[in-house]
Amino acid sequence: MSSTPHGGRLLNLIASPDEAAALAAKAAELPSVTLSQRDLSDVEMLGIGAFSPLDGFMTRADYEECVQRMHLTCGLPWGIPVTLAISKDLAARLPEGARLALKAPGGAVAAVMAVNEVFPYDAHREAREVFRTEDEAHPGVAALYAQEEMLAGGPITLLAPPPHDDFQQYRLTPADTRKAFDERGWSTIVGFQTRNPVHRAHEYIQKCALEIVDGLLLHPLVGETKSDDIPAEVRMRCYEVLLQNYYPKDRTLLSVMPAAMRYGGPREAILHAMVRKNYGCTHFIVGRDHAGVGTYYGTYDAQRIFSELTPEELGITPLFFEHSFWCNRCEGMASAKTCPHGPEDRVSLSGTKVREMLKAGERPPQEFSRPEVADVLIEASREK
Ligand code: ADX
Repeated sequence: MSSTPHGGRLLNLIASPDEAAALAAKAAELPSVTLSQRDLSDVEMLGIGAFSPLDGFMTRADYEECVQRMHLTCGLPWGIPVTLAISKDLAARLPEGARLALKAPGGAVAAVMAVNEVFPYDAHREAREVFRTEDEAHPGVAALYAQEEMLAGGPITLLAPPPHDDFQQYRLTPADTRKAFDERGWSTIVGFQTRNPVHRAHEYIQKCALEIVDGLLLHPLVGETKSDDIPAEVRMRCYEVLLQNYYPKDRTLLSVMPAAMRYGGPREAILHAMVRKNYGCTHFIVGRDHAGVGTYYGTYDAQRIFSELTPEELGITPLFFEHSFWCNRCEGMASAKTCPHGPEDRVSLSGTKVREMLKAGERPPQEFSRPEVADVLIEASREK
């Protein structure tokens, strides 16, 4: 039995083919806004129910509650606002109760929104409360500051499932993953969020978690990430070779999450957990500096924030892992919790060092990265 969705019911905001035809005809006459890639990811997450119980972009009361208290007005926890920013000019042209066509960057109408409310917001306050910094060098804050000045809130209906030409076989919706868990007979499932190429520490914490549950949902985020992150297509190839060689097929499911990365550290860890609850996970891995970037968050801030919420309101069990590494004396993966040796015995490499090695066609030590994964990364760094 998968977990109960956040709020009790998994939403599906995608119109039936009949409704879609009528909606598309109507949409042609409506005022419209062209979405950014990030907005489009949010539309998709909403549409497939991954953001349940949200049925659209936040109205003011939910937005305020989320920013200030990390909850929705219905009382459920929610980590990061899901908002649609529009220009003042468009806001002024929207009559009360207006419908707004939401267009994909290519111009096709993706969804129609019933605009319940248009309201101003304070991006600096949101940055402070949600990202814990107002520094525009933070990629999540930079994206927030780049937004238009007003927010439009209200429910949305998608005309169709958003089209994609990549990762087709991995694009399972929350309803699909739940079905897959049931078919496999898994009642406890741990979800793993990631935006980086998989290395041994990831594998270690995934497998530690898998020791105590029935199944593992490997759930890389494939929406927008910052430009110097490794592209999703390369990360997926890494997972494919890793799974072929090192994972039990009947205990592991690889699927992608279409969301964009916010780099919101603790607040994003809460969002990630709620979303994986919607995908049916009963447990969720939170390791070191989850969803962090630079030095904005403490190593375990994203774990600590879970203590602000009760297990009942969370409805998914976080599994916390300490910073993991290979220890030469233990001859295995470990953390400070399980290994008595010092830093001099650990295999630790900076991101810069790893990039340099890969560029030079050199595999990082196999204690850091599986050779099959290293080869994918070497090949990708040559393709650039
Ligand atoms: S994240 O932005 O998606 O969190 P990443 O893909 O690097 O980045 O991490 C995925 C998950 O693995 C996160 O829960 C993170 O905390 C955890 N993690 C990454 N590296 C380590 C490590 N060396 N030790 C323990 N946990 C780690």
